[in-house]
Amino acid sequence: MNDETVNLFFIHFNQITQMHGLLTNDGQGLFDQKTPFYLYDLELLERTLQAAAMAADKRGYKIHYALKANNEPEVVRQVVRYGMGADCVSGNELDAALRHGFDAEGVVFAGVGKTDEEILMAIQNGVLLNCESLEELMVTAGLSERAGKQARIALRINPDVDPCTHKKITTGLDENKFGIHPSQLQESLDFCRDHDALHFVGLHFHIGSQILTPEPFIRLCEKVNRLWEVYRIDEYGGEMLNLGGGLGIDYYHPEQHPVPDFESYFDIFSQHLRVPEHVHIHFEPGRSLVAQCGTLITRVLYVKSGHTRKMVITDAGMTELLRPALYQAFHKIDNLVSGRPEAQYDVMGPACESSDVFAKDIQLPGTCRGDILAVRSCGAYAQSMSLQYNLREKARSYFYRPLLSANNGTFSDATEPFACEVVD
Ligand code: LLP
Repeated sequence: MNDETVNLFFIHFNQITQMHGLLTNDGQGLFDQKTPFYLYDLELLERTLQAAAMAADKRGYKIHYALKANNEPEVVRQVVRYGMGADCVSGNELDAALRHGFDAEGVVFAGVGKTDEEILMAIQNGVLLNCESLEELMVTAGLSERAGKQARIALRINPDVDPCTHKKITTGLDENKFGIHPSQLQESLDFCRDHDALHFVGLHFHIGSQILTPEPFIRLCEKVNRLWEVYRIDEYGGEMLNLGGGLGIDYYHPEQHPVPDFESYFDIFSQHLRVPEHVHIHFEPGRSLVAQCGTLITRVLYVKSGHTRKMVITDAGMTELLRPALYQAFHKIDNLVSGRPEAQYDVMGPACESSDVFAKDIQLPGTCRGDILAVRSCGAYAQSMSLQYNLREKARSYFYRPLLSANNGTFSDATEPFACEVVD
């Protein structure tokens, strides 16, 4: 990362902590609003999308944004602006993608349990189906024959490659439910060739999420190279290879690494893939495009003295950010208002679940009732995984864009107003 990036982010970080500088569209202080809420930095989102789009374009790669990471309309609209396609895993995501203006040709639809209605919806709209089993392929053939329309098919293969990430977000091992085992690839290819209603276009892979080292992607490339050659994918008309998503982000130092290194990521594939030149290479990033631009803002309700520990009870919990409860995931937490000496705390939400814990034994500036906390890196898999458990209300989202001064291309200082859009 160059110095300029660090500087820019540092200024931006100060701006977020200048609570009273942020105004909503109707002139109210953003941090006087009802908490919890999600706060998105549109400038960082755009910078990330631009970095990804440029790195992909340079190599002739196509990106399909994984809508499951965040389906907030404002976020999705930005993605559309950068000319990306969409990766969907439900009929509703498919519907949202088409409504938000993604070109149907650029939408792909995966999922191990697609319903007949969802498959038909994809067929009718000419959306590519990433087919996850021989059984699904048979159902799809029947549905497309009856509909009198050809279904575009990529076969999702389970390559048995360990992504070396959390067990719960591993998808490409034999034991996982996703994809077709390579031992059934030949039968699947022949099935496509024998059914006019199916138009086979290529192979799809996705080995897992939050991958931080190149090795799993290198092993994936080696597996793909072998499969492409051994199964003579070209001869079956294969012209597209989708390598899924999975690029991780830095949850520990979000301010130092706001934008993932897409250049190095794509370089891994340029260096290790050995499929024929004419094959179009596609990716489906989710987290890496949107995680760092989102922050969960929450207010401290109580600082409770337990027998041995101090517990900060916040008004956000697992219902707004499920990742810590589900995967023991780490999210950096900042107290945006306290300048008091540091102390050690557990931070937990209000839900009636003992697993509703954001963090244990973390250092925070002395924290009191009413303080505002920022839970970082919440742009991916927070809003989209939110729950209404305990009849909780859905948290709102706010968007802001630090203003750029026309003169020197740096951000405005905190005394200038912010563009801050309220989204219902
Ligand atoms: N393509 C497919 C077929 C997927 O299943 C996924 C994620 C992606 C692409 C995007 O992966 P990404 O680039 O975001 O790693 N809720 C978990 C993550 C689950 C990911 C599910 N599939 C979490 O919060 O960590």
